[in-house]
Amino acid sequence: MQYENILVETHGRVGLVRLNRPKALNALNDQLMDELGAALRLFDQDEAIGCIVLTGNEKAFAAGADIGAMANYSYMDVFKGEYITRNWEHLRRVRKPVIAAVAGYALGGGCELAMMCDFIIAADNAKFGQPEIKLGTMPGAGGTQRLPRAVSKAKAMDLCLTARMMDAVEAERSGLVSRVVPAEKLMDEAMNAANTIASMSLPTVMMIKESINRAYETTLSEGVQYERRLFHGTFATEDQKEGMKAFLEKRLPSFRNL
Ligand code: HXC
Repeated sequence: MQYENILVETHGRVGLVRLNRPKALNALNDQLMDELGAALRLFDQDEAIGCIVLTGNEKAFAAGADIGAMANYSYMDVFKGEYITRNWEHLRRVRKPVIAAVAGYALGGGCELAMMCDFIIAADNAKFGQPEIKLGTMPGAGGTQRLPRAVSKAKAMDLCLTARMMDAVEAERSGLVSRVVPAEKLMDEAMNAANTIASMSLPTVMMIKESINRAYETTLSEGVQYERRLFHGTFATEDQKEGMKAFLEKRLPSFRNL
């Protein structure tokens, strides 16, 4: 498939998508989001892929939705879903893990896109923020919902209302990112994490992702019950038999994703 706004690569069992509008700091326009959705769907359907990495470049993961493109949209343009929000839901439907590798700016829709991923690994030059308020608008792809869940209500209010940026150290301290690494090591770190995940049993990986995401949608007792059913379900997989047998035989498991 030919893309104009993203670069797509496969490294073993890891699918890599790079946002690629460097002159506009990877501002997210509708075409880019359509292409991203298509690329993610293809990786998700591909049995040979076990984990996906989404990244930008050293200067920007993404500096937000494309302000030039949306400046003159009318209410009906955006409400009917033809523009901006039409294609932001793709990422949520991906069942394999998606790691965001963030260097530079992750602002507005860029921060929201990173938060839609399953976890964020940040370079030490990363900057996160929801500066939409300065444009007379507000986060529109989950910023006011995912940010408080990730970093607390106080910090989410602070970031969304003052438009200030949060650096990588603060982002890690407040729970938005899972690790911070020197910028030059970012892609190695993200690809290593992705390779590790891709070497596990894919059905088990998918069950764990589903179960953790359930924690955000339900009560503790319902969530624990849901987890237990999935845990029981792993005993119906060949990979559970192989994983435990390999441990007992003191060898590495060879998962067949069955
Ligand atoms: C369109 C953008 C852009 C954006 C940067 N550019 N961000 N174009 N949409 N979101 C363009 C600039 O216009 C400029 O183009 C080029 O990228 C380089 O940007 P500079 O501003 O010259 O770089 P710098 O001085 O280093 O400042 C970096 C920056 C600043 C602090 C990140 O660019 C900035 O504040 N950007 C906007 C951030 C923002 O408000 N994001 C939220 C958008 S609203 P030229 O052609 O002049 O070189 C949003 C809503 C989400 O995201 C809703 C989702 C459904």
